[in-house]
Amino acid sequence: MAYELVEVRTEGGKVGIVTLNRPKQLNALNNQLMDELGAALRAFDADEAIGCMIVTGSEKAFAAGADIGAMATYTFADVYKGDYITRNWETIRSVRKPVIAAVSGFCLGGGCELAMMCDFIIAADNAKFGQPEIKLGIIPGAGGTQRLPRSVGKSKAMDMALTGRMIDATEAESCGLASRVVPLDKLMEETLGAALMICDYSQIAVMAAKESVNRSFETGLADGVMFERRMFHALFATTDQKEGMDAFVNKRKAQFKHQ
Ligand code: CAA
Repeated sequence: MAYELVEVRTEGGKVGIVTLNRPKQLNALNNQLMDELGAALRAFDADEAIGCMIVTGSEKAFAAGADIGAMATYTFADVYKGDYITRNWETIRSVRKPVIAAVSGFCLGGGCELAMMCDFIIAADNAKFGQPEIKLGIIPGAGGTQRLPRSVGKSKAMDMALTGRMIDATEAESCGLASRVVPLDKLMEETLGAALMICDYSQIAVMAAKESVNRSFETGLADGVMFERRMFHALFATTDQKEGMDAFVNKRKAQFKHQ
């Protein structure tokens, strides 16, 4: 696929990086951009050599939300019948390898929702997160009212969704939205470091960990714990489990074969 609104590259032959690239619109997310992002992530997911992906934007904006200009004249009939605006977004959730959001600048509305669809968020110290849809006479439409409270709790999620206020990177980290905050000029280095670390682990264990953590959002505790236990047991069928434990016992670095 030819990409116009995202840039796609790999690092070290094993990390797939997708950079949102609509700078004049602060990476406002339209259908084409989301189609391209979905296609790029799915292609990396299918590529044996790739172990982890990064989604990032520009210094000024990860993404300032869904494209308001494109939405402005839609009627209810348009959006409901055509399932417009966010219909292609959930495809990102079908990606099985880890996806890290490296966020600098504005991460608002659909941009914040996109970051939350990734597996974890590393924020630059200039990042600003928010769900300002209320100011436009709408509400978040790509999971903001669902993923945000699961991430930051009800009170903070209500505060953000009802007032539309932005929170800075420090607040985002302290409430659990971002996993870490780093200086802006270290954002890609730190995120790549995390991605390369993940690539060197057993890909099967990594995928199982992602699937198991995600299951916690979809199920009750007892079912979730049982799911985890079954996954845990299953990993004893892999050569990577033998390699990982043998390497520990023999005080050497594990060389996982992803089998
Ligand atoms: N859609 C389309 N264009 C956008 C945009 C968006 N979400 N956000 C910014 N832009 C455009 C601006 O229109 C502007 O274009 P022009 O230069 O052609 O006028 C350009 O990006 C730069 O923006 P500003 O001049 O406004 O830059 P700023 O630094 O003064 O302010 C900002 C930055 C605070 C992010 C401000 O642009 C802003 O508030 N943007 C809208 C944020 C928003 O409301 N997001 C939610 C969208 S709705 C949504 O996402 C629904 C959903 O849940 C899926």
